[in-house]
Amino acid sequence: VAATLASSAFAEYPEKPVTLVVPFAAGGPTDKVARDLAEALRKPLGGQAIVIENVGGAGGTLGATKVAKAAPDGYTLLLHHIGMATSPALYRTLQYKTLEDFEYLGLVNEVPMTLIGKTTLPAANYAELSKWLEANKGKINLANAGLGSASHLCGLLFQQSLKIDMTTVPYKGTAPAMTDLLGGQVDIMCDQTTNTTSQIESGKVKAFAVTTTKRLTTPALGKLPTLDESGLKGFNVSIWHGLYAPKGTPKPVLDKINAALKLALKDPEFDKREEALGAVIINDARVNPADHKKFVEAEINKWGPVIKAAGQYAD
Ligand code: MLT
Repeated sequence: VAATLASSAFAEYPEKPVTLVVPFAAGGPTDKVARDLAEALRKPLGGQAIVIENVGGAGGTLGATKVAKAAPDGYTLLLHHIGMATSPALYRTLQYKTLEDFEYLGLVNEVPMTLIGKTTLPAANYAELSKWLEANKGKINLANAGLGSASHLCGLLFQQSLKIDMTTVPYKGTAPAMTDLLGGQVDIMCDQTTNTTSQIESGKVKAFAVTTTKRLTTPALGKLPTLDESGLKGFNVSIWHGLYAPKGTPKPVLDKINAALKLALKDPEFDKREEALGAVIINDARVNPADHKKFVEAEINKWGPVIKAAGQYAD
């Protein structure tokens, strides 16, 4: 009886707009997938509005902390990414426990990254870029979205592969970082194709390579070589995004959100928008909470040692 009462108590959920926290600045890749997803979730969640709240800073950990501490009522959710798996190794005073303070809903997508540069860089391809990097050691500015961001992880691996230390310039997201790259204030950046495709197509940035082991199939990026084939053997980074709620959110609410997510991931409009920018929509077991959580735990164990070996701490 209690279970029935409980589920009926939430039969009307959601009865008011749901806040979806994006832990990076508006206009970046995390914001992009959140807004596309919010659009696709609306109908399956009974038409309620899903309001995006951008809470940037500290490589995504401020936004994640806000949701970890929010009321577990289903009205505050988090759209986050691989930073869930790298932040535990980067922050010694993280304000939340990744595997204990969140309810895991489904994994949403995976997005490749591109290595891009300011148009005034005297390099027309990756080979010329690596020569320029070699010749300008100590003077290279690499933009990212803070320690814990996807751009940070990719940039860290890139520096390790080249054995070249670069000055990293952190932003509250790769949207503001892109503004400075377009202005030539920074030299290069590793960023997700959802944010770089239009800039590359319009020639406002130079594109040198993609970070996945297979070349992409989108028209704009299909001709880019992979870093792996360009000499950085085994370089392989793609950025997953997932949906989270505060620990303790009632199961009937979680079930409703997860059911709505599965419908949203099958929404042709959502798939078309995302795939046009190189994203791959998840349609395997990781759309289920338990498998999603297992996947993130494996990612924490995969990236933790890499991050620790770099000896970079954010605090
Ligand atoms: C990242 O580098 O983590 C993201 O691109 C940040 C963002 O979404 O702006």
